[in-house]
Amino acid sequence: MVIKDAKFICSNTKAEQCPQTTLPEYAFIGRSNVGKSSLINMLTGRLKLAKTSSFPGKTQLINHFLINEQWYLVDLPGYGWAKVSKESREKWGKMIKYYLQNRPNLACVLVLIDSRLPPQKPDLDFMEMLGTMGVPFVLIFTKIDKQSGQKTDANIAAYMKTLEETWEELPLYMKSSSTTRQGREEVLAFIEEVNKR
Ligand code: GTP
Ligand code: MG
Repeated sequence: MVIKDAKFICSNTKAEQCPQTTLPEYAFIGRSNVGKSSLINMLTGRLKLAKTSSFPGKTQLINHFLINEQWYLVDLPGYGWAKVSKESREKWGKMIKYYLQNRPNLACVLVLIDSRLPPQKPDLDFMEMLGTMGVPFVLIFTKIDKQSGQKTDANIAAYMKTLEETWEELPLYMKSSSTTRQGREEVLAFIEEVNKR
């Protein structure tokens, strides 16, 4: 897919304030610092579209970006950052849950996982919540430039094994690096495919 146009539309805390639209949207979610905003910039080829930072907790709101006037990318705040107060964590949890339950045009959630780490409880819990809500999701293993391909594949195989313990059907997964742009075509082709459904 060629990205002809990508623009920031709005930042919100509530699903109702998000664009009133029937265009499909794809939400990026995952632990703080996993690379959600960087991936959005890499996919769109607009390096400053979504704000990134080396400090976790950069993205705080629900951010909508309109792509090719046809579909939306949504950048969400990260979860699982230990330094965030219990109060903010609960507020975040409510905001995201409400968003997920009140966007009928939500086509798919892309759950980003750091390809270097063993399965983390916040990610597994989040997937379970999506399953309970019946929200479709796929996994994206990020930052694959930070280790060898062999190590990435071994980590992903171990990850899938863990998921097999609770999931009857394993989610589709892709790999990405926002530095080398690996995975760009695959993720965009996936979105293009779902857009056709
Ligand atoms: P929050 O908004 O805080 O939840 O974080 P985020 O998931 O949006 O992460 P962000 O895109 O801001 O990236 C966090 C840090 O990881 C930044 O320093 C990025 O430069 C770095 N980073 C993100 N993706 C990659 C990648 O694929 N490879 C490498 N080497 N670094 C990456
Ligand atoms: Mg971010």
